[in-house]
Amino acid sequence: MSTFRYAPSQILVHWLAAALIVFLLVTGTFVLADLPNSADKVGSLRVHMILGALAGVLVVARVWLRRRRPQPPAVVAERWARLGHMGLNVLVLLLVVSGAALALQSGVADAVFAGAALPESLEGWTLRKVHGLLTRLLMALIAVHVLAALYHQWIVRDGLLLRMRPGKPRS
Ligand code: HEM
Repeated sequence: MSTFRYAPSQILVHWLAAALIVFLLVTGTFVLADLPNSADKVGSLRVHMILGALAGVLVVARVWLRRRRPQPPAVVAERWARLGHMGLNVLVLLLVVSGAALALQSGVADAVFAGAALPESLEGWTLRKVHGLLTRLLMALIAVHVLAALYHQWIVRDGLLLRMRPGKPRS
C-alpha cells in the first residue's frame, strides 16, 4: 500500500471545491430552479454566481497544483482515472462558461449586479438548458468518482482515499 500523501494545499483545494460544487448542485436543483423570478430571487442568484465562479477558480488552482506538486504513483486503471478527473474539471469549467454566458445574455447579470429587473423567465433559453444538462452530467460523473474512490479503498485496498485525507500524516 502506497504511503503517498497529496500536499496540504492540494487537499484543501480538493475538499473546498468538492463542498462548493455539491452545494451549488443541490441548491441550484432544489432551490434556484424552482423559485419564481421575483426580486426575492436576486440574492440567491448572486450567491450562486459568485460561488460558481469561485468553483471555477478552484478547479484551475487544482490543475495548476497537480502539475507543480510531486506526482502520485500510478493506480489500477490509471488511464480511466485521468480521463475521469479531466471530465470533472472540464464539466465544471463548462458550467462556469455556460452560467456566465446565460447570465450576461438573459439580463440576469444586470439584475444581480446593476439593479435591473430580472427577466420574467429563463425557460426558453438554450444556454439555460445546456447549463442544466451539464449539471446532470456532472452529478453522474461525481457519483462514478465517489464509487471509484470507495472501490479503491475497500476492494483494491491501495489506500487511495488516504492520499486525500485532511490532517497530519500518520507516521
Ligand atoms: C460549478 C459551477 C456551477 C454549478 C455546479 C451550477 C449548478 C447549477 C444548477 C444545479 C442549476 C439548476 C439547474 C436545473 O436544475 O435545471 C443552475 C442554474 C443556474 N446557474 Fe449555475 N452552476 C454553476 C455555475 C454558475 C455560474 C458561474 C453562473 C453565472 C455566472 C451560473 C448561473 C446560473 C443561472 C443564471 C441559473 C438559472 C437559475 C434559474 O433557473 O433561475 N451558474 N446552476
